[in-house]
Amino acid sequence: MELNRRTVLAGAAAVGLTAATAGGAAHATGDGKPVKSLFGKLADGTKVYSWALENGGTRLKVLSYGGIVQSLEIPDRRGRYANVSLGFGTLEDYVAKSPYFGALIGRYGNRIGKGRFTLDGRTYQLSVNDGENSLHGGAQGFDKRVWDVEPFTRGSDVGLRLYRTGVDGEMGYPGTLRTKVTYTLTRHGDWRIDYAATTDKATVVNLTSHVYWNLAGESSGTIHDHELTIAASRYTPVDSGLIPTGELARVPGTPFDFRRAKTVGEDIRVAHPQLLYGQGLDHNWALDKGLTARPEHIATLRDPSSGRTLRIATTEPGLQFYSGNFLDGTLVGSGGTVYRQGDGLCLETQHFPDSPNQPSFPSTVLRPGQTYRTTTVHSFSA
Ligand code: GLA
Repeated sequence: MELNRRTVLAGAAAVGLTAATAGGAAHATGDGKPVKSLFGKLADGTKVYSWALENGGTRLKVLSYGGIVQSLEIPDRRGRYANVSLGFGTLEDYVAKSPYFGALIGRYGNRIGKGRFTLDGRTYQLSVNDGENSLHGGAQGFDKRVWDVEPFTRGSDVGLRLYRTGVDGEMGYPGTLRTKVTYTLTRHGDWRIDYAATTDKATVVNLTSHVYWNLAGESSGTIHDHELTIAASRYTPVDSGLIPTGELARVPGTPFDFRRAKTVGEDIRVAHPQLLYGQGLDHNWALDKGLTARPEHIATLRDPSSGRTLRIATTEPGLQFYSGNFLDGTLVGSGGTVYRQGDGLCLETQHFPDSPNQPSFPSTVLRPGQTYRTTTVHSFSA
């Protein structure tokens, strides 16, 4: 922790922030209330705050910019804390070069082919920011916006409500989208996310969270020794642009079979054509449980060295598992080390990529009068 803090402060000095406004400055008080501190300022002067929360042994820091989880600390089996979420120490780094570290993703998690879809006979052209495709909501997605943050305590829970309204036509999407995302830390230390949205025109929505996990601690090396299970018998194969072909392929006998715990590294070098497109695993698993009214357990990630274990439950029908393939040694993380390929992995609960163009996939359409609601719960143990 000392090293982390020194690095953060050194980084802050370099960009002209005072120590009091540096990323590492916010600390939860322990009395349950989220604590707010200035994290930095955007080029236009907008202040960005860091909110520190602690409950049930889990410590979370969230930025008003992008709803970003800047750090998430949990104990190992001997009670030693580590930040298990990749990120940066300064706002400037998040703005300039973040590969969605810890961010809230909207309006549409993952890719929409050619950034185009047709709904009710009208074709919409979205912001294209990934080759010819639209990724994670386009060039200025929810991850690059400042959210209104309201802290709360409710019984033994503490949390933050994040609000943002996307205007009609933003990034090409139809409809004014009123979005509310609630981050709750429960007394058991679970991190629960409840997403809600309404629209005034028919549109598509697919919100998710883009935390890069490393349960041994960010900056500790790769996640290839982590053991992972995913309760899915099928996944959606992609083309060379990482757009699903529409097929639901069976996982048995392929590197995509995580029905029983297997290390992430075990099959990552198998010469399977699907592993070449995204330089590793970067696919949507069609969860066996499908879309459910209540969150159901779908994945477990465990680091054998520390014992830290993450269990994920969701209402969503899909899980995008991305093995950190595009981390290429060009970013220095919050712990002061360089991030390389596989130093973190993402488990993004969501609807399937490119659903607006895939009639056989569960629908992502939201209409006026309906409320979009999804929930994902992250539970930690060691
Ligand atoms: C998602 C995508 C990946 C990549 C990362 C961010 O997980 O599926 O292809 O874009 O986000 O780098």
